[in-house]
Amino acid sequence: MPGDVHPLEGAAGTEPAARSGPRHVAIIMDGNGRWAQARGRPRLFGHHAGARRVREIVECCPGLGVKYLTIFAFSTENWKRTQTEVAGLMSLFRRYISKEMNALAERNVRVRFIGDRVRLDEKLKALMDKLERKTEGNDGTQLTIALNYGGRDEVARATKRLARDVAEGRLNPEDVDQETLPRYLDTHVLPDPDLVIRTSGEARISNFLLWQSAYAEYEFIDTLWPDFTSEEMARLCNSFGRRDRRFGAIKT
Ligand code: IPE
Ligand code: IPE
Ligand code: MG
Repeated sequence: MPGDVHPLEGAAGTEPAARSGPRHVAIIMDGNGRWAQARGRPRLFGHHAGARRVREIVECCPGLGVKYLTIFAFSTENWKRTQTEVAGLMSLFRRYISKEMNALAERNVRVRFIGDRVRLDEKLKALMDKLERKTEGNDGTQLTIALNYGGRDEVARATKRLARDVAEGRLNPEDVDQETLPRYLDTHVLPDPDLVIRTSGEARISNFLLWQSAYAEYEFIDTLWPDFTSEEMARLCNSFGRRDRRFGAIKT
């Protein structure tokens, strides 16, 4: 769990964004492999190009009024890929964190990681901790990187902690309602995403932020992640402002 707030003390914000633009944008960064393939290059070439795109997208957030940016970097299902690709991605994550650490800190970005760290190697975990600690006082863009993240896995881990609190007498089962579970999720300090973008033309969510996206707006775009630009991000944020979000109610 990110941070050291006990779930029963933490408050998960679930209220919709009050402004017209999205306050929290979540992105499924997909299409690196196809981008590389189209150039006759190995998949990892595409992952490196994809990682280089992240900086521009993080940096355009303040100008768009996006306070929270959450990016899907590696899913609990991505371990099924070849050993070469998985190892290459893990080494890319280590490199990305070391390389971007100072720039993120200086640009007032606060970084958090969500997902299960248990399966990650010690060196990567140490870098993740270091980046979180180094940026914890920053109040600019709140960047969350989903690494070894799966929505179902997150709900299962949250339920385990919730059950433990019940078993140890800290939580009464009668008090469990839809405000309770999100306090145990990895995202407990974040508001729900307003807009979820998936690049690469696939119209599925692949186990990303299942609970949190119940009322998110979705944009499935054909652009492959290494070609995604701040202009396209701006266009999607602007068209979000024109959507009519009703949250189950009717227009009065
Ligand atoms: C997304 O790109 C990055 C990760 C899943 C790590 P892909 O690697 O899934 O690219 P495609 O979908 O094969 O093109
Ligand atoms: C989703 O992309 C995960 C990330 C972007 C990290 P995938 O490429 O793994 O998803 P599927 O396999 O197309 O559903
Ligand atoms: Mg993919």
